[in-house]
Amino acid sequence: MDALEALTTRASPLQLADPPPDSAALDAMLRAAVRAPDHGRLHPWRFVVIRDAARSALGDVLATTLKARDPNAPEAALAKERAKPLRAPLIVVVAARLREHKNVPAIEQIISAGAAAQNILVAAHAQGFGGFWRTGPAAYDGDVKTARGLDAQDSIVGFLYLGTPAVAAPPAIPPDLAEIVTEWTGPVHSTHP
Ligand SMILES: Cc1cc2nc3c(=O)[nH]c(=O)nc-3n(C[C@H](O)[C@H](O)[C@H](O)COP(=O)(O)O)c2cc1C
Repeated sequence: MDALEALTTRASPLQLADPPPDSAALDAMLRAAVRAPDHGRLHPWRFVVIRDAARSALGDVLATTLKARDPNAPEAALAKERAKPLRAPLIVVVAARLREHKNVPAIEQIISAGAAAQNILVAAHAQGFGGFWRTGPAAYDGDVKTARGLDAQDSIVGFLYLGTPAVAAPPAIPPDLAEIVTEWTGPVHSTHP
């Protein structure tokens, strides 16, 4: 699959199954990730790879931290949270490790991590795998971050669930480019007197 085809056909499969991307495929995905544009060459990305039994341990962290955020969370919600990491054989948590920089505000470091996450998804797709991007309140919970070896100040930009598509993505409905793309040809003069 060439690059344009990968970019324009990537979509989030409804279900993922085994096998996960093998180590060569994962390596290629991570090498694509670190080609994200990176103002100041800060390498602001951190990637946490979670697979096998560690997914259940992550589920326990998600349930425990949900309970801490919401002591009244019903058992069904805790069970749902606990099961989330089992939705895919491989999870890559993508975070931005933010640092103070006079020319590179935090938002640019977070955007770079987002671009890295997108590169991972496209590189997975280009190699015949699939993935979907999730966040939710757990992404912004300091205890979730530290349980994964991240710093509480890191920004998780996404949990990437990765595997082999078991149920294909629904057909994409691309937006009408004419509605979202304009060509600027010079200042717009006010019609007001
Ligand atoms: C930063 C970010 C966070 C997202 N978080 C969620 C999420 O928590 N739950 C969800 O259903 N979709 C989430 N999405 C959207 C899906 O990953 C997906 O892109 C969307 O359902 C459209 O499907 P497509 O990727 O096939 O176009 C998120 C997307 C981004 C960029």
